[in-house]
Amino acid sequence: KRKTRVHHLQQMKSEGERWSMLTAYDFSTAKIFDDAGIPVLLVGDSAANVVYGYDTTVPITIDELLPLVRGVVRGAPHALVVADLPFGSYETSAQQALASATRFMKEGQAHAVKFEGGERVADQIAAVTAAGIPVMAHIGFTPQSVNTLGGFRVQGRGDGADQLIADAIAVQEAGAFSVVMEMVPAELAAQVTRKLTIPTVGIGAGHECDAQVLVWQDMAGYTAGRTAKFVKKFGNVGDELRNAALAYDNEVKRGIFPAPEHTF
Ligand code: KIV
Ligand code: NA
Repeated sequence: KRKTRVHHLQQMKSEGERWSMLTAYDFSTAKIFDDAGIPVLLVGDSAANVVYGYDTTVPITIDELLPLVRGVVRGAPHALVVADLPFGSYETSAQQALASATRFMKEGQAHAVKFEGGERVADQIAAVTAAGIPVMAHIGFTPQSVNTLGGFRVQGRGDGADQLIADAIAVQEAGAFSVVMEMVPAELAAQVTRKLTIPTVGIGAGHECDAQVLVWQDMAGYTAGRTAKFVKKFGNVGDELRNAALAYDNEVKRGIFPAPEHTF
């Protein structure tokens, strides 16, 4: 199995080959996804929700994300590991973005970083890329801006379409190697995908993007409660884990576990 690099993703776009991306937040899960051949793993700031239990991604810090990045990198020898820059770690200036990205590369040993925004972060993308750090952009619905976007809403409808296209072009021109489009009408995402030379990664953006991404807990049926419309559940990991815990508890209480074969 090859180690995935940025140019492989570019190559897959030219050859019309789709690829998948999943989030990962720890060593053991990253190892399973790497074994399964998932070429790109994202240590998303969605860790705010699924690891730390915050309501939004706004509060999570670099110090909370970094240890997760280290675990994922150690567990995934083949995948390209992308680390999300959290809210507040890149908006101020190109210098701030570069300093934050550098921490993820040096202390986390990530292979690339991702941060939210289009035209408004073009200078940051250019500076980070120029320093030798590949950048994945993220446009459309950007969860860190939930407070100005008026909640979880589809972006790029009506007048918003021109802004979305402008954002996509801006991040490509600034040097991003790929761009996530979140909650964008499928037709607009398809149009952007045809227009750009860099691969687009959709989440709630239809099937004509070059790649797809989901939060792994949503994908595997491990998320408690309801999930977004764009999620498909490919497994029942939550039920499996609950059943395992129930069976274990039951056998311990009844004195069945540990059996002689588990005993020294
Ligand atoms: O943080 C995250 O999980 C993400 C993806 C869903 C794109 O940004
Ligand atoms: Na994110």
